[in-house]
Amino acid sequence: MSRGDSSRREFLANLAMAATILPGLGAGAAYVFRFLIPQPEQRVREVLLEKLDNLPVGASRLYKKVLGNDLIAVRVSDRQIRVFSSICTHLGCHVQWDPTEKNFLCPCHMGRFDTAGKVIAGPPPAPLPSFAIRIEGGNVFVEVPVREV
Ligand code: FES
Repeated sequence: MSRGDSSRREFLANLAMAATILPGLGAGAAYVFRFLIPQPEQRVREVLLEKLDNLPVGASRLYKKVLGNDLIAVRVSDRQIRVFSSICTHLGCHVQWDPTEKNFLCPCHMGRFDTAGKVIAGPPPAPLPSFAIRIEGGNVFVEVPVREV
């Protein structure tokens, strides 16, 4: 083996390591900067999400582009519904409800979140953002930021 082969092999090994580590560091840095740099005040609005009867206990449903937000709701008990962003906090794939495990699965890198949005497995660096809800007259209302679409 020549010295050139050895340094080329080291270079490729370092390149592979960098390709593995850098995306994770970038996602982590973006998450930290989001909290360190003041964000412009965001407008929020309450909108009708669903009729309560349309979401049985244990069921979940996706809602696309609610004022620009992709949401996922789960009914955890008779009077308790939780609504989260459906965008995974790792690299932005959409999470989905796993009815067998009764938690949220991100199929991209097998991240999992419990019904409180907390990370329970995989690489996501943060919980799913949650949104306030209100149940009134058999309807579920959710308060979401107004995003440009
Ligand atoms: S995007 Fe990687 S676990 Fe969700």
